[in-house]
Amino acid sequence: MKLHPIIAPSILSANFAKLGEEVDSVIAGGADWIHFDVMDNHYVPNLTIGPMVCAALKTHGVTSPIDVHLMVKPVDRLINEFAAAGADIITFHPEASEHIHRNLQQIRDAGCKAGLVLNPATPLTHLTHVMDKLDVVLLMSVNPGFGGQSFIRNTLDKITDLRELIDNSEHEIRLEVDGGVKLENIAEIANAGADTFVAGSAIFSQPDYMEIIEKLRAAINKHN
Ligand code: DX5
Ligand code: ZN
Repeated sequence: MKLHPIIAPSILSANFAKLGEEVDSVIAGGADWIHFDVMDNHYVPNLTIGPMVCAALKTHGVTSPIDVHLMVKPVDRLINEFAAAGADIITFHPEASEHIHRNLQQIRDAGCKAGLVLNPATPLTHLTHVMDKLDVVLLMSVNPGFGGQSFIRNTLDKITDLRELIDNSEHEIRLEVDGGVKLENIAEIANAGADTFVAGSAIFSQPDYMEIIEKLRAAINKHN
C-alpha cells in the first residue's frame, strides 16, 4: 500500500545565512518534512551541519518533522544527539554502521522513526533481516555528498523492486528517494513506487517555493 505523498525539501541547497527563514518559507509553501543532510568529511567528502543546528531550528519554532539523513561514520553517538536535538526521523547508511540492527533499535528507543539509506550501488538485500525495524527506506539516486547532481536513471528499477518488497511485507514503510529529483522526473519516480520525495536544488533554486512545491505535488498526483 502506497502512503500519501510527502515532499521533503533538502536544506542543503538553502541559504545557510538565513536558515530559519528559509525553513519557514518552505513550510509555508507546503513542505511536509524538512530533509536535514548531515555530512562529516569522512563518510562523504563534504561537511555540513550537526545537532546544534537541528536544535536551533526547533527552538526557532519549526514543528514540521525533521528528517535527519546521517552521512557520518560511525553513527552511534550522533543518533542520540540528534534525537535529543528534536529530530523526528533518523536514517543512516548500512556501510557506516558496524551494528545495523542495534542502531535501528537505538533510533526507535530514542523516540524517532528509523530508516536505512541505500547508495546507488548498495543492494536491497541489506533490508532483508530488518524489515520490522524500518519506518522508512531512503534510496539514493545520486552518490551522497553534494546537492545539484543528476538523477541516476537505473534507480527507477530499484524503486520498483523496493515497492514490491515493501508491499509483500506486512510493515508500513515509506519509500523515500533522494538526489536529482526535479519537476521533470518526479512523476516517473512516483510511478515507479516512491511516496516520499527529497528535493534540494529543485526547490531552493526557485524564487517562489510555494509555486514549485505545488507543481511538484501536482506532478506526483497526476501520475498516481
Ligand atoms: C546528497 C543529499 C541530498 C541532496 C539532494 O548527498 O543527501 O539530500 O541535498 O540535493 P538535490 O535535490 O539538489 O539533488
Ligand atoms: Zn539527503
